[in-house]
Order: sequence, then structure tokens, then C-alpha cells
Amino acid sequence: MSMIRLETTFAGLQLKTPIIVGSSGLTDSVSKIKQLAANGAGAVVLKSLFEEQILEDIRETHSQNSMDAPELDEYVRNYTKQNSIAKYLKLIKDAKAAVDIPVIASINCIDANEWTNFANQIEDAGADALELNIALLASDMQRTSEEIEQNYFKIIDAVSKTVELPLIIKLGQYSASLANLIQRIAWTEKVAGLVLFNRFYSPDFDIETGKPLSTNVLSTPDEFGTSLRWVTIMAPQVEVPIVASTGIHDSAAVIKQLWVGAQAVQMVSALYKKGPDYLTEVLDGLKDWMKRHNFESVDQFRGKLHYTKSYDATVFERLQFLKYFSDNKNI
Ligand SMILES: Cc1cc2nc3c(=O)[nH]c(=O)nc-3n(C[C@H](O)[C@H](O)[C@H](O)COP(=O)(O)O)c2cc1C
Repeated sequence: MSMIRLETTFAGLQLKTPIIVGSSGLTDSVSKIKQLAANGAGAVVLKSLFEEQILEDIRETHSQNSMDAPELDEYVRNYTKQNSIAKYLKLIKDAKAAVDIPVIASINCIDANEWTNFANQIEDAGADALELNIALLASDMQRTSEEIEQNYFKIIDAVSKTVELPLIIKLGQYSASLANLIQRIAWTEKVAGLVLFNRFYSPDFDIETGKPLSTNVLSTPDEFGTSLRWVTIMAPQVEVPIVASTGIHDSAAVIKQLWVGAQAVQMVSALYKKGPDYLTEVLDGLKDWMKRHNFESVDQFRGKLHYTKSYDATVFERLQFLKYFSDNKNI
């Protein structure tokens, strides 16, 4: 029987398989990480530290009195107490000692300020890479797209001066000119990988009480088209490897993303819904498909499906359902 090889690389890291378990509570303990590694995870991204947490920690260290920072709300303060920075750094160390897959640390940030100096502690703790989840919402009427997007570059610049770790940028899908933004991020030459895309919470509230609700926390399989569109458009054009994320729930979705050029994928919600063992099933599905198509390695098919120059590109580059409607007369 021919051997099917699933190895790949991403952001300078060697991955045994192209499925990375994304940043979430799925990776918040050594025992969970060990199980994911045993199930074939190519790498894990730890749950994010938040910029606000790091700032709070810095202030506490300097003043020994967190009341000096009244602008930090109670929520952040409580979260910070429960998820301390020291615990996070220990998790990096312990996870590295326990598994032989890359352990990627994560920081959720919106601005370049004192927190960026903290990144070297993550490097010292032994993380293999640092993923920055830069979640910018264009909700300020005073700021132009250009001003908002400058934050990506300020953050990348500041953090890359602090660490030598491979930097991975996880961004949201919103930009007035997304292709241009992604290209400019790649052109900084300070970024080793991109994750398309982070998934934002949808706001919701209870109509009896008016209180906010956290609904819709997990993605559904039909959300994967946005990522597929942008991986299809961008992967052939940018030098930096791209990981697909959001709505990838089965091996078919993994195959599609790799075939159009994703270097690897991230999964979260599907593993929340079906449990960590589901990873093995998804990898088996990928191997079965590769066997049926006579591919022995991921490199043999990754990025080989090109849409950008063909008629079918309209499927990815037009927003209207022209073809869909003409094919489906009953809808
Ligand atoms: C419970 C939960 C916690 C998450 N926490 C983080 C986080 O701390 N940092 C981060 O960058 N993304 C976080 N995410 C987002 C996921 O990493 C991922 O981008 C998103 O769920 C979309 O992928 P999926 O469709 O495979 O779930 C979280 C997602 C869930 C469901």
C-alpha cells in the first residue's frame, strides 16, 4: 500500500498534518493539547491573551495596585485574574515539553502600545510562533479606512522588533480593499503566515430583559465560503502562506481549501461540536480522498486548482448568483 503523507509546513514550522486546532478553549490545558496531538493535529494555537490583560498585568507589576487603572472595566480585571499571564507562560512551557507538535501562542490586539514589549516573554517561554488576532471594527466615524488599517502595520512593526518568532496575522474579513490590505501585510516581509479569517461574534440580546446574549458562538459549515473565496483569490498571488479558517467542519472543506491553495486549515467549532476525536475522522477522510485521486502528498495537489484565470472565476469573484439562478430554474 502506498504511503499517504500529510506533512506540510506553515510559517516556517513543520506540521505533521495540515489541520491546526485554532485558538479557543480547546487548547487551554496540557492534557487537551496532548489529546489533540495524539489525534493528529498539525499544530495548536493557544487561547488568546488579550491586549487589555497584558496592559493590566504591566500596570499591576508597576503599581502593585490595580485600582490605579480605573478605566479597565471589571470584566477585564476578573478575566485577567482567572487567566493570568504567568499561567499562560507556564502553559506554553508545559505544552512544549509534553508534545512534539508546534505550539503557537496568540494575542488578541487592536493597537500597538506597551503590550508589544511583552511578546518576548512568549518567545522566552518557548512558543514556536505567535499569532496576532487583530480584530478591528470600523465603527468610528472619525477614522478613515486607511487610518484604521494603519494599526495592522503599527502592530506588525512593533512586535517584529521585539521577537524573532514567526509572526502569524489572523485578520477579519472586513476591509474596503481586502486584497490590497492582505498584499500590503505580506509585503512587510515581517509576517510568516496569514489566517483568513477570524470570526466575529454576532451581537444579540434578549427581548424580555434587553440583556446581551452570547448566541451563535460556534460556526456552521455553510460559513466556509467566505474563507474559500479569499483563499482562492489570494493564495496564488501572495508570497506568504495562508491558513484557511472559519466554517471548516469536514474533510471535504479541508480538501477544497488545500486544493485552491491554503497551506493548512484551522478548525475550532467542529471539534467543539463533535469532540477532539473527530479530528482523526477528518484526517481519514482527507487520506481516503488523496488515495482515490492518487495523491501521495499534500504538495501534489495543494494550490493546483486555479480559478482566477478561468470562466469559473466568476463563482469566486462575483457576488451575484447569476450562474446559480440559471442552473436552478426552480429557485
Ligand atoms: C469558544 C471559542 C473561543 C475562542 N477563543 C478565541 C481566542 O481566544 N482567540 C482567537 O483568536 N480566536 C478565538 N476563537 C475563534 C476561533 O479561533 C476561530 O477563529 C473561529 O471559531 C472560526 O473557526 P471555526 O469555524 O473552525 O470555529 C474562539 C472560538 C470559540 C468558539
